[in-house]
Parts: sequence; C-alpha cells; structure tokens
Amino acid sequence: MRRAIYPGSFDPVTNGHLDIIARGCKLFDEIIIAILVNPEKHPFFTIDERREMLSEVLDQIDAGSCKLLVDSFEGLLVQYAVAQQAVAIVRGIRAISDYEFELQMALMNRRLEPAIETVFMMPAEAYSYVSSRLVKEVFLLGGALDGLVPGVVAARMKEKVAPS
Ligand code: PNS
Repeated sequence: MRRAIYPGSFDPVTNGHLDIIARGCKLFDEIIIAILVNPEKHPFFTIDERREMLSEVLDQIDAGSCKLLVDSFEGLLVQYAVAQQAVAIVRGIRAISDYEFELQMALMNRRLEPAIETVFMMPAEAYSYVSSRLVKEVFLLGGALDGLVPGVVAARMKEKVAPS
C-alpha cells in the first residue's frame, strides 16, 4: 500500500490541484490531501470550509482504485507524513519559477526525513498559470473564474462576499 501526502494551503482548491491529484492517483494507492493550518496567514476560507470544499470536489476526479482522503495538519510536514506512514509527498510544479522554492523545500524535507520522497508532478498546460492567489485576486476584482476552479468553489467565493 503506497500512501502519499499532497500538502498545501488549498485556499481555495483549484482545477490545477485536482489535475495533480488525478495524476497522483496513477502512482499511489492512497493520497491524503493535507491542508496546512497556518495561524499566521489570513486565509479567505477557514480550514473547515476548505476541508468541506475539497471533500465535495474530489468526487469529480477519476481516481480509479486510489483512495482519496482530506485532512489538515500543523507543524512539520515530514513529521505528519511519517505519522501517516506515507512514502511520498506530492507537489505540483507549474513553471521553472516554482521549481526553485519547491526544490529547496524538497531538499530540506529530505534532510529532515530521508525516508520520505518528494514527487514533482506537472499539471496540464491549461493550468500552468492557475494559482489560488491569482484566483482570489481575479475574483475580488470581478473577473470570471470559469475553468479555473470547480463550480462549488466559485459559488462559495460568491457567498463569502455576498452581503448578508
Ligand atoms: O499550497 P502551499 O501554500 O504552496 O503549500 C506549502 C506547504 C504547506 C507545502 C508548506 O508550507 C509546508 O510544508 N508547510 C509545513 C511546515 C514545514 O514542514 N516547513 C518546512 C518545509 S521545508
């Protein structure tokens, strides 16, 4: 049984994240999508909201026999990965600009926990410019999110800013 961790902020989950999860399903028997609890950040969505949205949209993925779980974690990623008995950490690389920081993190994680491998995966070209940060910016400035995030995520974003 090969279990991987797909960590991230997922604030919010994008179609690019879902593409990476689908690709990861070809390599692993189980993937835990693990949301970082980062008290220093001021997120758009709470951890519970992000968990709910992720759980909802995972149904859209053709996961085959791969089991998909959603969780959240605090502290060191590698400690969490070891506790979950995972063999790998999955990270998406969209462009060379991602690579530098991702390489740094992967090497630091390997130093901290040599038993855990980091696997870099490339999303479909259509998602090579999609990030949660840009999705939020486009949304807050009134741009359309079609094709960038799942429908439920776009709807939740609209609900968030709708006057109550
Ligand atoms: O979606 P993001 O924000 O790019 O994800 C970043 C994440 C969660 C993978 C990274 O911040 C992380 O692993 N944080 C946990 C703390 C940790 O282990 N730090 C040392 C990493 S070298």
